[in-house]
Amino acid sequence: MTTVIENNNQKSGRLEVGTPLLEVKDLHVEFHTRDGVAKAVNGVNYSVAAGETLAVLGESGSGKSVTAQTIMGILDMPPGKVTQGEILYRGQDMLKMSNEERRKIRGRKIAMIFQDALSALN
Ligand SMILES: Nc1ncnc2c1ncn2[C@@H]1O[C@H](COP(=O)(O)OP(=O)(O)O)[C@@H](O)[C@H]1O
Ligand SMILES: [Mg+2]
Repeated sequence: MTTVIENNNQKSGRLEVGTPLLEVKDLHVEFHTRDGVAKAVNGVNYSVAAGETLAVLGESGSGKSVTAQTIMGILDMPPGKVTQGEILYRGQDMLKMSNEERRKIRGRKIAMIFQDALSALN
């Protein structure tokens, strides 16, 4: 038996379990502030396959939220800046996509539930 996720349209297609869906490769994000440059994300790598759940744990300030915001394309740039790396969605680098292409993915294919979820959801 083959389990699939996502079957909403032909363009997105079905992916077999185990096929990489989201890959973060050597991601570097920094902030340029008046006080200098803060290197928030330094070479993050992870991959999430179709049908897979990934939990990222780390101490406060280690870059979890900045990584997630960069994936979503909602990080304010400036002050944020991606200096290196790739974020592949179905093999395509989202960092090189147009705003229009990213908008089609954001919310429909990749969504974010913010920290204070109980106040945001009913
Ligand atoms: N807008 C910003 N300007 C400057 N530094 C920032 C900004 N946002 C986040 N940072 C810094 O980036 C680092 C990672 O933060 P964050 O991703 O929020 O950590 P986590 O979610 O793992 O607790 C921290 O050092 C934080 O201070
Ligand atoms: Mg956080």
